[in-house]
Amino acid sequence: MKQEAILKARGVRKYFPVRRGFLQRPVGWIQAVDDVSLEVLPGQTLGLVGESGCGKSTLARLFLKLLHPDQGEILYKGREISGLSEREFKPLRREIQIIFQDPQGSLNPKMTVASTLEDGLKVLGLPKKQYQEKTGQLLERVGLSPEDRKRYPHEFSGGQRQRIGLARALTVEPKLIICDEPVSALDVSIQSKIINLLYTLQQEFSVSYLFISHDLNVVGYLSHQVAVMYLGQIMEYAPTEKIFASPEHPYTRALLAATPTVDAEPDQKEEPLSGDVPSPLNPPKACRFNTRCPLSDDRCRQEPVPLEKKDSGNLVRCLKVN
Ligand SMILES: Nc1ncnc2c1ncn2[C@@H]1O[C@H](COP(=O)(O)OP(=O)(O)OP(=O)(O)O)[C@@H](O)[C@H]1O
Ligand code: SF4
Ligand SMILES: [Mg+2]
Repeated sequence: MKQEAILKARGVRKYFPVRRGFLQRPVGWIQAVDDVSLEVLPGQTLGLVGESGCGKSTLARLFLKLLHPDQGEILYKGREISGLSEREFKPLRREIQIIFQDPQGSLNPKMTVASTLEDGLKVLGLPKKQYQEKTGQLLERVGLSPEDRKRYPHEFSGGQRQRIGLARALTVEPKLIICDEPVSALDVSIQSKIINLLYTLQQEFSVSYLFISHDLNVVGYLSHQVAVMYLGQIMEYAPTEKIFASPEHPYTRALLAATPTVDAEPDQKEEPLSGDVPSPLNPPKACRFNTRCPLSDDRCRQEPVPLEKKDSGNLVRCLKVN
């Protein structure tokens, strides 16, 4: 039986107006997210990958109800959230946490680690006398020491600060953590430690992740499924092993070529991506990837291209994949 998704997006669209002049009238629209459907399953990780500006963080903000979609539905545990009032959403807000690329920016520099974590415990309604024990346990869970409670964010390294960010997210016993580029600012050796930690915490707490990154290899370590995004749209969506073993969309193939792994056969490599990502203010007609795709022809510039299930079972948005 198919598992019920913890988070589901159906046909979600978010355009931002570009305003000009004294009256600030919209003169154009940034098509940040266009017709995105995806789901995160309980206790699993969905990887969301794509180049800078393709709409990943906009989607994250939509899922946190920090933005309202222009179209489509967002369901958390089967309940549509974009229509909920703040009061109705409040108990759910606790269950959906986020960690960011820059933990420095998201931690209050004037608060000790203890105060940062206690904020979360207050939300949970834990008695004050249990704070010290609970914060110590959480710090140990994320690979820090209970002694670190008394220190301030600037006294830690980037990787350690990301661990504090994770401990803070865990204080409120979340069901879903949106990880928006959580390791992009870290050295490669530290990246793998944080990814291993995320993996261990998922096993222990059965928490689900939406793991966002511009690096397909990083996404591959944790994700059960991967959604590849380009200019606001999903181009390919499939189980992780299929994305790596038999990618079908020319964009996925190009991304893989740009991030070679040690075991990649040289003769299997694709042409890496050339050119810049077009502006989301005026994306290419028909297939949005047509200006950079080595297989592009007139059809790709004229016909609408749906995201559809192909023979392989992958969801792919390309006219040349059967
Ligand atoms: N509040 C906003 N107002 C206007 N445009 C916005 C707003 N937020 C995002 N955008 C635009 O929407 C597009 C998608 O931005 P978003 O931050 O979602 O991309 P991203 O994939 O997260 O990029 P990055 O990898 O650099 O973090 C970009 O062109 C961005 O400039
Ligand atoms: S539809 Fe055409 S341009 Fe778009 S990805 Fe497929 S082959 Fe390339
Ligand atoms: Mg972003």
